[in-house]
Amino acid sequence: MHTTILDHVKQGQTMTVENIVSLLTFPEVDSLYQAANECRHNNMGDDIYLRGIIEFSNICIKNCNYCGIRGSNTEIVPYRIPDKDILNTCQKMVDWGYTSVVLQSGEDPFYTTEKLAKLIMVIKETTPLAITLSVGERDEEAYRIWKKAGMDRYLLRFETSDPKLFKACHPDDDLFVRLECLETLRNKGIQVGSGFLIGLPNETLEQLAHDILFCTQLNLDMIGIGPFIAHPNTPFADQPNSFNSDIFYKTIAILRLLNPLAHIPATTAFDAIDPNGRDLVLQRGANVFMPNATPMAYREHYQLYPGKPCITESSDDCAGCVKGRIKRLGRTLGNDAGHSFKNPLR
Ligand code: 5AD
Ligand code: SF4
Ligand code: FES
Repeated sequence: MHTTILDHVKQGQTMTVENIVSLLTFPEVDSLYQAANECRHNNMGDDIYLRGIIEFSNICIKNCNYCGIRGSNTEIVPYRIPDKDILNTCQKMVDWGYTSVVLQSGEDPFYTTEKLAKLIMVIKETTPLAITLSVGERDEEAYRIWKKAGMDRYLLRFETSDPKLFKACHPDDDLFVRLECLETLRNKGIQVGSGFLIGLPNETLEQLAHDILFCTQLNLDMIGIGPFIAHPNTPFADQPNSFNSDIFYKTIAILRLLNPLAHIPATTAFDAIDPNGRDLVLQRGANVFMPNATPMAYREHYQLYPGKPCITESSDDCAGCVKGRIKRLGRTLGNDAGHSFKNPLR
C-alpha cells in the first residue's frame, strides 16, 4: 500500500491529503529518503547553493505566539546592524564563495521602503550577489520598488495553511493577507520562497499534509520549512512539538518528491533538534544551505527558538564549517547565483 503510493508520487501523480498522511506514517523511511535524494540528484544536481543570511534587525512589531523575538518579549536586547557592517559582510560573502545574500529582520518599521531600496542598490553595485529579502508583510509598492532596486527574491513563510491554526499563532495577522503578499510578489516576477512550521501546538497530521500539498499549489521557487521549537519567553513556552523528528525529515522528503524543481534549504532549526540535522536534510531532498553571516556580537539576540546553532561561532567559522559539510556529503558548491530552476531566465 505505502510502496504503491511512493511509486505514484515518484511518477508525479496527484496526491490527496490521505495519501500524504499515509506517506508520513510510512514505516520504510529509507526507501522514502532514497527516493527523495535521487529526485534531488536527477533534477537539481549535486550542487549545494550557499545563501548567507544576515539577521540585520531583531526588532519586531508583531507578536507571533511561537517566536522568541516577538515584540512583547522584553528580555530581548534590541539591535539594528549599521548599513556599513551589512555591506562589509556582503563583501566577505563573495570571498567565501557565497552567491546570494538573504537580508532578514523582524517587522521593523524603521526600515522604510526607501532605506531598504538604497541598501539593495548599494549591494547590487558593489557585489555580484543575488539578493533575497525577508522582512515580513509589506505593500505592493514596496515590493515593486525593491524589485526595481535589484531585489531578486523574497522569503515569506505562510507558517500554516489552516486558517484556524494560523489565527491561534498570529494575533496580528490574517492568512489571506499573507497569501496575497505571496501572490503580489509572484506577479511582479520576484522569485518566491515560502513554507511552514512543522508541529505547531495541536497540529494534526492532516493539517501537515495540507501544508505539504499547499506548497505545490503555490508553485514556489523555494520551499523553506522547519520544526516548531518552543521558546521559553512566548505563549507557546510549554507546548511540545506535535510530532517526532522522523516526521520532520519525512516532510522534507515528500516535499522534494512533489516539487522536483524547487530549491529546498536545510534550515537552521534542523540543527537545533539534532547537531547533524542540516546534513541529514541535505541527504533527504534539500539542496540549499543558508550559513549564518550575522556578525557574531548580534547572534545571541536573534534567537527565534532555543538551541539555535552557530551562536558563538563567527561568520568565518560558519563559512569554513559549511564547506567541510559539503565535502563530507560528497556534494559540490553551486557557483552560479542559484536562481530558481523554474525561472526561464536561468
Ligand atoms: N521555532 C521554529 N521556527 C521559528 N520561527 C519563528 N519562531 C520559531 C520557533 N519558535 C521561524 C518562522 C519564521 C522564520 C523566520 O523563523 O517560521 O518564518
Ligand atoms: Fe516578528 Fe517574524 Fe517573529 Fe512573527 S515570526 S514575531 S513577524 S520576527
Ligand atoms: Fe555555523 Fe557550522 S554552520 S558553525
